[in-house]
Amino acid sequence: MDRGKKPSATKQQAMDDFRNHVSSGKAAFFRKYGMQFVMGGRDECYLDDVDGRKRLFNLHCNGGVFNLGHRNRQLIDVLMKGFEELDIGNGHLMSKARADLAKFLAGLMPGDLSYTVFGVGGGEAVDLALKVARAYTGRKKIISAKGGYHGHTGLAMAAGDEKYRVPFGPPVPGFVQVPFGDPNAVAAEIDADTAGVILETVPATLGIAVPPEGYLQSVRELCTAQGTLLIMDEVQTGLGRTGRLWGFEHFDIMPDIVVIGKGLSGGIYPITATVLRTPLESVFHDDPFIHVSTFGGAEVGCLVAKRVLEISSDPEFLAHVKRLAGAFDEGIATLRRKHPRFLTGLRQLGLMMGLELKDELSGPVLSKTAYDNGLLMVYANNEPSVCQLLPPLIMERSEVDLVMARLDRALAAAKRLRPVLKIKRQVEEFVEKWKM
Ligand SMILES: Cc1ncc(COP(=O)(O)O)c(C=O)c1O
Repeated sequence: MDRGKKPSATKQQAMDDFRNHVSSGKAAFFRKYGMQFVMGGRDECYLDDVDGRKRLFNLHCNGGVFNLGHRNRQLIDVLMKGFEELDIGNGHLMSKARADLAKFLAGLMPGDLSYTVFGVGGGEAVDLALKVARAYTGRKKIISAKGGYHGHTGLAMAAGDEKYRVPFGPPVPGFVQVPFGDPNAVAAEIDADTAGVILETVPATLGIAVPPEGYLQSVRELCTAQGTLLIMDEVQTGLGRTGRLWGFEHFDIMPDIVVIGKGLSGGIYPITATVLRTPLESVFHDDPFIHVSTFGGAEVGCLVAKRVLEISSDPEFLAHVKRLAGAFDEGIATLRRKHPRFLTGLRQLGLMMGLELKDELSGPVLSKTAYDNGLLMVYANNEPSVCQLLPPLIMERSEVDLVMARLDRALAAAKRLRPVLKIKRQVEEFVEKWKM
C-alpha cells in the first residue's frame, strides 16, 4: 500500500488471503517495504493495482514473459480461436500443432537444431536439456556458471547457486559451478566425463553479465574438443530481447541445445521448448515414452507460441528493438551525467539491460524508489548492485522519454534514501551481533 492510502476492501481481502494461503513470506516482504501491489488490470506496457490506485510501467517483464506486452491482442485472438477446436492435447500421441510449431522453430534455428521437446516451465526445459546431455554422451558431469540461474526444479536447481538448493537437501552429484566469463575456469573443469556446459547467454540473475569478447567462442571450442554438449539457456535472452532473435547469434556460436521459455508463452499460455541438434534426438528413438510431459506443448499453447515466433522473428520487429536499445543507451547516458556517483554504468545487449549502481544496497533501494515513481524494476538477486532493466519490446520510442523522466526521479529519491537505510542496516547488524 502506498503510505497514507487505505486499501479497498477487495484489495485488503486479497492481501489477507494471499498472506494466509499463498505466501506469508512474500506478504511480509512487500508490507515491510511499502510495496503492497496486487496485480489487477494490465495492458501492453502497464499493470494496475487491483484497486486501480497505482499504475506501473513494466520494466521487468518477468524476465521476458511480457516481451510482447500484457494481454497482447493478437495472441489472445489466436488462443481464443484455438479453443474453438483444440484443448491441451495428449503428449503420448502425435500432434499437428506440436509438429507445426517444432518445424517453424527449426526454420528459425541455425544448422541442424531441428528437434524440439516441449515443456511447461523453464526449469523443466533445462532439466530435459541436461537429461539429454547425460543420456547422449553417457557422461555425468555438468558445468554451469556461479551466480547463474536455470530454474527451481531438479537438475536445473542443481546447476544453480547454493542458496536456491541447500535448504532442500543434499547436493546432486556431478554438478560443478565456475565463474562466468573466464574460459580458463571452464578449461580447468571440463574433462572426458563432462556431459554438458550450460550457460545463459547473458546471465540475468548475475546482473545482466554480458559475456566478454571471445568467451562463448572459447567455451564452444572447449566443448567441441571434449565431445561435451554446449547448452545455451535463452529463456531470457531469446525471442528478440537482444535485438537478434537468439542472443547467442551475437557471438557466432552454434549450440548443441537451446532452451526457450518465458516469452514463448506470450504471457498468456505457459509453454517452453528445448531444441536439440538432430543426432541428440536419438536418445528418445528406441523408447520415446521415457520422457512425457502431460502439459508440455499443450496444443492451444503451440498456436500462441507460433504467433510469438512469427512476431519476434520479423526483421522490422527486431529493428524496432535495436532502435529502442539506442534510445535507452542515450537516455541512460544522460542520467549517468546527472547522477554520476549513484548510476555508474549500463550493461546492455539490445534491450537486455542492467543499471550498474553505487553498491549492493543501491539495487534494492532503487527498486523501491522506482516503484514509488511508477516503474516496476527489480535488482539482480545474485548481484544486487545491478538493477535489471527489461522493458517490453513492443513499447513505443516516445515511451522511453517517459521512462527516463520517472527513472530520473527514482534515482534522485534513491540517493536520498540509501544513507538512511545504510544506517538502519548497520543498527540492525549491531543489534544482531549484540544478541550473540
Ligand atoms: C535464464 C533462466 N532459465 C530458466 C529459468 C526457469 O524458468 P521457470 O521459472 O519457467 O521454470 C529462468 C527463470 O527465471 C531463467 O531466468
